[in-house]
Amino acid sequence: MTKSVAGELADLELPVERGCPFAPPAAYERLREQAPINKVRLVSGGEAWWVSRHEEARAVLADPRFSSDKRKDGFPLFTLDAATLQQLRSQPPLMLGMDRAEHSAARRPVIGEFTVKRLAALRPRIQDIVDHFIDDMLAADRRPVDLVQALSLPVPSLVICELLGVPYTDHDFFQSRTAMMVRRTSQEDRQRAFAELRVYIDGLITRKESEPGDDLLSRQIARQRQNGALDHAGLVSLAFLLLTAGHETTANMISLGVVGLLSHPEQLALVTADPGRTPMAVEELLRYFTIADGVTSRVATEDMEIGGVGIKAGEGVIVSMLSANWDPAAFKDSGELDVERGARHHLAFGFGPHQCLGQNLARMELQIVFDTLFRRIPALRLAAPIEDLPFKSDAVIYGVHELPVTW
Ligand code: HEM
Repeated sequence: MTKSVAGELADLELPVERGCPFAPPAAYERLREQAPINKVRLVSGGEAWWVSRHEEARAVLADPRFSSDKRKDGFPLFTLDAATLQQLRSQPPLMLGMDRAEHSAARRPVIGEFTVKRLAALRPRIQDIVDHFIDDMLAADRRPVDLVQALSLPVPSLVICELLGVPYTDHDFFQSRTAMMVRRTSQEDRQRAFAELRVYIDGLITRKESEPGDDLLSRQIARQRQNGALDHAGLVSLAFLLLTAGHETTANMISLGVVGLLSHPEQLALVTADPGRTPMAVEELLRYFTIADGVTSRVATEDMEIGGVGIKAGEGVIVSMLSANWDPAAFKDSGELDVERGARHHLAFGFGPHQCLGQNLARMELQIVFDTLFRRIPALRLAAPIEDLPFKSDAVIYGVHELPVTW
């Protein structure tokens, strides 16, 4: 049976900041080596099981005996604080927090919108969007340019707006509220942002119910009407999740991907020499940065044994995808960024029934951005030393607040 570690590691309060600034914190590495499933204390209060290795991470995420339902007692406070959890519990649930039949009923009607085949039709429009923002960058009369504002945020924001039928003119509003919601800093700001965004989306769905357009949300409304009953609250939850998950994550991945490639010129050279390598490079960047670490938290619904460790019903479990994605048993020389490694089995999009619904869209956006950016601005370089970049160690989704680049 795996032992609980004593001393320094047992006293550890998580999360702790990443080192280097890319690598998982040293404590995560030690936990993975010494006690891959171990109880840890959480900064936000309470304790939970910490799952570090790739093998057990997949086992937990695929196991229906673990619940994603944040309303259940014992759900670990890792990416949430107690007040935000309370607020979430008072609202209709998001798909992310549902289990089994309730979850399938919420996810099934939207799956068709995110298949590779369906998304292929969006490729030319996404290419136009990327080219448009790069044209603006090239036309800027001053450098350095902040890549976050010039490209990373606007591309996925405009794409998800067009897909959902959200007016892009509201982007300042929903981008700032989403960024606030995923920051660990101010609890009041987070709660206000959550409430304001929910009200905004409620209004949007109400308008679409009377004046449908040609967009994903209107199609869901039509589909529900056809089936008999309109679930207004469910549509608000769906739109809320897709809008927030659909831009902030990809935006951070664009910025970090650019940092990763610019700081590993030999890897960038491999990608620019053969764009056929870009899809594999995207997988490796997703693995290397694992920006959504810890969102895959669960609570056990019955007593069980995983990896030789007994977990009791009602105990919280945090799957560290970052730790799993740097597990040398799954990725040789895991600390190296290697765009040719074939990292497709990474867990950056989660695993099991909740695996990211928008992953094909995110992949396509990342591929188009990296190919186009380095082709059109081959002399692109960071305009600040890496150690001076404002990394988002204060947020649930890792990234950079600003990314000055020049050429
Ligand atoms: C690089 C970008 C992205 C990353 C790293 C990411 C990561 C994740 C992860 C780790 C999960 C699983 C959570 C869990 O198991 O509890 C997830 C779920 C989800 N993601 Fe993403 N995501 C990204 C982009 C997107 C995009 C572009 C969309 C929408 C267009 C999206 C929509 C969703 C939804 C709806 C779920 C919930 C699925 C479910 O509960 O069944 N994500 N994402």
